[in-house]
Amino acid sequence: MNPLDPAPPRVYVTRTLPDAGMRELKRLPGPVEVYRGDGPPSRAELLDAVAGAAGLVTLLTESVDDELLTAAGPGLRVVANCAVGYDNIDVEAAARRGVVVTNTPDVLDEATADLAMTLILAASRRVVEADRFVRAGSSWIWDPRLFLGLDVSAGATLGIVGLGRIGLAVARRAQAFGMRLLATRISDAVRADADSLGVTEVSLPTLLSSSDVVTLHCPLTPSTHHLIGATELDAMPSHAVLVNTARGPVVDEAALAAALEQGTIGAAALDVFEHEPRIHPRLLELDNVIAVPHIASAGRATRDAMATLAVRNVAAVLAGEGPLTPVRT
Ligand code: DGY
Repeated sequence: MNPLDPAPPRVYVTRTLPDAGMRELKRLPGPVEVYRGDGPPSRAELLDAVAGAAGLVTLLTESVDDELLTAAGPGLRVVANCAVGYDNIDVEAAARRGVVVTNTPDVLDEATADLAMTLILAASRRVVEADRFVRAGSSWIWDPRLFLGLDVSAGATLGIVGLGRIGLAVARRAQAFGMRLLATRISDAVRADADSLGVTEVSLPTLLSSSDVVTLHCPLTPSTHHLIGATELDAMPSHAVLVNTARGPVVDEAALAAALEQGTIGAAALDVFEHEPRIHPRLLELDNVIAVPHIASAGRATRDAMATLAVRNVAAVLAGEGPLTPVRT
């Protein structure tokens, strides 16, 4: 080896990735270190491990902020988040240092929409509550009033808050179920498709007061933090269902617990939580809440595709090529 050759770029990966991602890591030209713990590395371990790395593959559990970027040092060239959301990354701090940030859009749209539709149906028809009832050994016989819920396919209205690629994939499913579709913030990229599905764009107050089911698909930004709080929940019909597969802090969880307890809205189905992995304890006491552990994109092929894309983004940047899916500031 020529002593004048620069050291091959080192890549640090903050968790064991799905198999396809681990295979893809083997194709990188330099050394790769994967954190092998059960959960994420501690902050101290993370700050220590990133020192001198040229590339990082991160998950939404890692806060990539000024401190971490400083700890990595001036050789850092790319942070590839293995998620479509990137609210865990200070994108401006990265840009100031010339560090490219990438995410994994598109590949998880269908899986995420599958889970959103599952939660819409399960909460509307009280499936989890009914399952708990049966498992508890409750006495029952067929009864015309047992577990009455929302007739989704009889023209119930679905309000999609934030209609981008994932929202559109949900709209397609809901349209097949005969739902009427309202949305806020339809992105230009999907407007033509949304139009052809018959989605009507409305303001958030109109959407909240007119929807039987509200499903959230906006990113978490300062302007969407607690977008759904006490006032917004109050504006919804008392039978309404709220579904969140976006980001927990979009909903004020304490306000949601109060609204569900008081019958301000009918039910909630949540894949994401304000302070993950903690969940507001009052939510867990309520029968009209479905809670699952942030699994919207957890299809096997989807998680393989996300991990592969994240590693390919690292490879592309380290090879001096443009990233495949950069986050744009
Ligand atoms: C994301 O990609 O942002 C999800 O929350 C995890 O798949």
